[in-house]
Amino acid sequence: MGEEVRMQDAIKNYEDVDSWKTVIFLYNAALKEVGTKLDILNDEFQHVHRYNPIEHIKTRIKTPESIVKKLKRYGYETSIENMVKYINDIAGVRLICSFTSDIYRLAEMIGNQSDLKVLSIKDYIKNPKESGYKSYHMLVSVPIFLSDSVVDTKVEIQIRTIAMDFWASLEHKIYYKFEGNAPEYISRDLQECAEMVSALDEKMLSLNEAILACVEEENQQKELEQGAQMRRVIGEAISKEAAQKKPSSLQKE
Ligand code: GTP
Ligand code: MG
Repeated sequence: MGEEVRMQDAIKNYEDVDSWKTVIFLYNAALKEVGTKLDILNDEFQHVHRYNPIEHIKTRIKTPESIVKKLKRYGYETSIENMVKYINDIAGVRLICSFTSDIYRLAEMIGNQSDLKVLSIKDYIKNPKESGYKSYHMLVSVPIFLSDSVVDTKVEIQIRTIAMDFWASLEHKIYYKFEGNAPEYISRDLQECAEMVSALDEKMLSLNEAILACVEEENQQKELEQGAQMRRVIGEAISKEAAQKKPSSLQKE
């Protein structure tokens, strides 16, 4: 295995245009690695439990414009070194699932992957943002194996339900229009919508639990009926055999 290096060190030998290409190449590789891992986890879950925790996966690389904007917001000069050091969401994966319970199940499955390092976790479901935003964020790093070295590359994973994603997408669009300065009543309405979204998620989760309990009961009932039928068939077979044996035993006497 090649030498393990940090991304800052991996790009030092390059001229700027080339190091930009190298960095983007690494983040793309990291997205592919994490995307494949998640696909496999989802398939395994389907195989074992006949159920898909992931509804869909979105991946994206941050645009150069948003990278520059964010560095400015953080107060750093625009440089490739600052970008790989301070911006954690250049490679981003969004996992959309059906129920809140799926989020924690997925987070645990991701945390158990021995080659991923979990760098930080922000649980905006237990502690929603003031805006009303809810989501589970994991910052992980994944080793990218190159011909002569291994580079740990950061990926931000956001896990949320369909309802949370619906809210976040619309809120993002609305906020963009106001460039972060939305009138007070709009922010309040958005917070109210976030509460409605949470209520919807809770309702859907308890509905799903009720459905699963129904299915479980039906299956138990079926098993009982099958057991009773089996006992009846065996009972009939035994008495038939006994009836056939009787005359021969009589003959012997
Ligand atoms: P920033 O990306 O600079 O906010 O970094 P941070 O360290 O504050 O990270 P945080 O985990 O708070 O948020 C990162 C990402 O979560 C953002 O780029 C958005 O995709 C999403 N996000 C966070 N807050 C909100 C919000 O209030 N509304 C929406 N729609 N998305 C949010
Ligand atoms: Mg933020």
